[in-house]
Amino acid sequence: MKIVIDSANVKEIRDLYEYFPIDGVTTNPSIIVKEQQTFFPLLKEIRKVIGEEKELFVQVISGKAENIVEEARYVTNSISGDVVIKVPVTIEGIKAIKLLKAEGIRTLATTVYTPLSAFVAAKAGADYVAPYVNRIDNLGDGTNVVSEITRIFSIHNLPCQVLAASFKNVKQLLNVTLAGAHGITTSPELIRAMLEHPSIEKDVCHFRNEWAQLYGKEATSLMV
Ligand code: E4P
Repeated sequence: MKIVIDSANVKEIRDLYEYFPIDGVTTNPSIIVKEQQTFFPLLKEIRKVIGEEKELFVQVISGKAENIVEEARYVTNSISGDVVIKVPVTIEGIKAIKLLKAEGIRTLATTVYTPLSAFVAAKAGADYVAPYVNRIDNLGDGTNVVSEITRIFSIHNLPCQVLAASFKNVKQLLNVTLAGAHGITTSPELIRAMLEHPSIEKDVCHFRNEWAQLYGKEATSLMV
């Protein structure tokens, strides 16, 4: 199961990438705009941090299928390494996913709210679908949508991965992990929050204190 950073902040990405088992970076127009920087140099900087092997997800802006395809070609020619094009699940988006599949350009179907839209996107050739868990939770049950999508893909042997997106708390991350999502993409804050529990630091401190009582305060490593 993948852990992907949903951010375009280079400092945050660099920091997380050093410590966490990160599989890639997703962006969308809002995330890019937040950084207030020139688009392609920013993406190239992110690529430098994560290396050529990790997936970098870039969302198109165009509405018409033919324009989406042109944008996708431009992006994949402009950024090196493993690039996945995010395409909204509009009717034009589905046409674009079909055309891009035929060209060998990988896609993620985004703005997914229903299991059937995910099914259509997967049939069209999307490599990923991204159900918007928190946005769905505001209307219904995001975890259930993720669970139904993973069931549909499994029952019908569709080679498409569910990269669950849009989270506001770690409970949602846990729920979709248990529901069988193939990956989560979330903010740097929530990735860090997956490790947060007051007992962890307390326990570690206790172990160190007991060790120091016998071996002395200088014994801060097993090698001392
Ligand atoms: C990622 O692919 C989505 O664009 C993103 O997670 C949406 O998240 P939000 O609902 O927090 O904006």
